[in-house]
Amino acid sequence: MDLTTSYLGFDLEHPLIVGASPLVHSLDTVRALEDAGAAAIVMHSLFEEQLVQEQLATSSAIDQPANSYAEALSYFPSPTEFKVGPDQYLEQLRRVKEAVGVPVIGSLNGTSIGGWLEYARLIEDAGADALELNIYDLAIDANESSEAVEKRTLDMIRIVRKTVDVPIAVKLSPFYTALPHFAARLVEAGADGLVLFNRLYQPDINVEDLEVVRLHLSDSSELLLRLHWLAILSGQIDASFAATGGAHTAIDAIKAVMTGAHAVQLVSALLRNGPRHITTIRDHMAAWLEDNEYESLRQMQGSMNLQRCPDPRAYERANYIQLLQSYTPETV
Ligand SMILES: Cc1cc2nc3c(=O)[nH]c(=O)nc-3n(C[C@H](O)[C@H](O)[C@H](O)COP(=O)(O)O)c2cc1C
Repeated sequence: MDLTTSYLGFDLEHPLIVGASPLVHSLDTVRALEDAGAAAIVMHSLFEEQLVQEQLATSSAIDQPANSYAEALSYFPSPTEFKVGPDQYLEQLRRVKEAVGVPVIGSLNGTSIGGWLEYARLIEDAGADALELNIYDLAIDANESSEAVEKRTLDMIRIVRKTVDVPIAVKLSPFYTALPHFAARLVEAGADGLVLFNRLYQPDINVEDLEVVRLHLSDSSELLLRLHWLAILSGQIDASFAATGGAHTAIDAIKAVMTGAHAVQLVSALLRNGPRHITTIRDHMAAWLEDNEYESLRQMQGSMNLQRCPDPRAYERANYIQLLQSYTPETV
């Protein structure tokens, strides 16, 4: 079965790629991921906070009396909270690149314009085939408008576009007032691809210990939000699309491709089941396509997006009304 796809200009054997995660920390794991068939690998992120922290420390060591920058530094997580520093990140990227033949995508994670964006070029120089820019922007200030938040992000993309030649993907959250308009502006600003969506880590609270509960891995229910927006965006915006969040099975990946994904990123599924899970999903996808008489994955790509699906109302307000009104209680 022909599962080939094109993502960010790369011809991939199939759409299953490894999403940004600690899976790249060990080169043995990286090789195992490639052996299991990973079509591409995204590095974990280098975070704005750690780069700003480094830059503040360096400039203040040169210009300032000791400790005058202590207050500024206190806003940022301490360097020990990051598993690797910027130099180790670039070194690990070089090693990962040497270890595998598939495209390796670097990841920068931040929300504001600043000197740290220079790392886009360093990531490119270290051998990344593409760059994923993670915009984990939590708009928590009641005085900041959506226009200002979006402008900040668009300006960032323009700077990075000017800085690197490799393709850029933007990993964003679903929480924008007019997502299709913003997505189109991101592509105009220079993004080659959109990664839907950042999994916003909503802190749960343990009411007895008064603690914030730690990260949990996803399940397939999280995919639904991605499918909805892939379906709405993929037919009207000319860019590469990747799904991230809630892809665990072959059927999940097939749904993402049907709604328009060119690539499907896996993280929780691999952390839970190990690298061989890529092979399982790929083989099940191929068997499913065969059984359902598709000739290729591309034939199925986007077949359930807003423009092409048999009932486009399913993605619009009409469906919401119908769903609410057709509910019947399971038990009386
Ligand atoms: C332990 C862990 C570490 C992660 N680190 C990053 C990261 O450094 N950068 C990033 O953009 N996303 C990171 N993510 C988010 C994943 O790339 C992915 O978007 C998210 O887990 C949803 O996909 P999934 O349902 O396949 O897990 C991380 C996720 C996990 C579970």
